Amino acid sequence: METKKIAFLGTAEQEAELLAAIDDMRNLPGALMPVMQKAQEIYGYLPIEVQEIISDAMDVPIEKIYGIATFYAQFNLEPKGKHQISVCLGTACYVKGSQLIFDEISKQLGIGEGGCTDDRNFSLSSCRCVGACGLAPVMLVDDDVYSQMTPGRVEEVLAKYA
Ligand code: FES
Repeated sequence: METKKIAFLGTAEQEAELLAAIDDMRNLPGALMPVMQKAQEIYGYLPIEVQEIISDAMDVPIEKIYGIATFYAQFNLEPKGKHQISVCLGTACYVKGSQLIFDEISKQLGIGEGGCTDDRNFSLSSCRCVGACGLAPVMLVDDDVYSQMTPGRVEEVLAKYA
């Protein structure tokens, strides 16, 4: 499933904070990375709207900012939900049907890999072996581990965090 674009909800206060940080840092050598880190700290992620603010304020091409944001794993282009769902697609879980669990979650929440629900309650991702192969198939919601999952239990698990 395609990850749909989440509405940008940045406030004037956040923008003012970012512009003040840019003013403080703009003359430092290599200021772009720390500015981007600060922007992510302020907004929680780096959507194109925030990249445009940085581009305008620092007079740096948006392509350069986008290139850095997509190259370094520390930068998130999508917002993170309040609850992080992770489905193990490691071998032991996969052979026991974890892809079907991932697909069911994806269908119920209307988001794909790396996506976030419109209400920002859930983010969804897959992961590799989490070291609990004996409990396969496994999904995690934040620090909670759900073992021997089935697609039929997805609704009940998600309801706990709704
Ligand atoms: S493969 Fe899923 S926990 Fe090991």
